[in-house]
Amino acid sequence: MAFLQALPKSFSGWVIFCCCCCLPLVLTGPLPPRGAWVASTAHHACRLRRINFQPYIRNHTYTLAKMVQVSDHDTDNRLIGQQLYANIKENNHCYMMKRTVEMVVKDVLLTEAKNQYLYAKEVAEFLASLTQQLRHCVSRQREHIEKNLEEMKRKMEELGENGKTKAIGELDLLFDYIENACTDAPKKGGSKKRN
Ligand SMILES: *[C@@H]1O[C@H](CO)[C@@H](O)[C@H](O)[C@H]1NC(C)=O
Repeated sequence: MAFLQALPKSFSGWVIFCCCCCLPLVLTGPLPPRGAWVASTAHHACRLRRINFQPYIRNHTYTLAKMVQVSDHDTDNRLIGQQLYANIKENNHCYMMKRTVEMVVKDVLLTEAKNQYLYAKEVAEFLASLTQQLRHCVSRQREHIEKNLEEMKRKMEELGENGKTKAIGELDLLFDYIENACTDAPKKGGSKKRN
């Protein structure tokens, strides 16, 4: 009984306590500073869900790349590689890959290639769907990124028609690069190793 009698009193005590102490905490506590909010939104815009990278589309992309690799005898040049990330901070890698993929789709896959090779059209559509999902992804390093992209484009154009062939032969690399740059690391123990 002593407990029941004490209840209303302690209850109103709690109400006062909550209004004075907890409410201000609730209102101010969980809201991060605006800068952090903007940064996390920008990060979110540069993320792709792993479910995009289905085994069948990986297979078709790799198959297309392998088919074309046999007609590329130039082993000195590489278009898709770490040089694309030169001077680019890691949190801008996804944007770098978004721009690279946009370029490859427009300048390589959606040219004669799309009717020339099996899976080319399908892979172009898949890659375009990724860049569409990344449409709000932006970067503060755009100048550096465009410079690296221009460098790659210049290299490709120098190689003439073989430049396009090489770019298609490296679609397997591009697939891995955009997957790694734009998806979050899999949870520990939750992923299968791919060979
Ligand atoms: C794609 O899948 C087919 C059929 O399952 C398989 O034979 C082939 O080796 C795969 N290709 C690649 C590049 O993984």
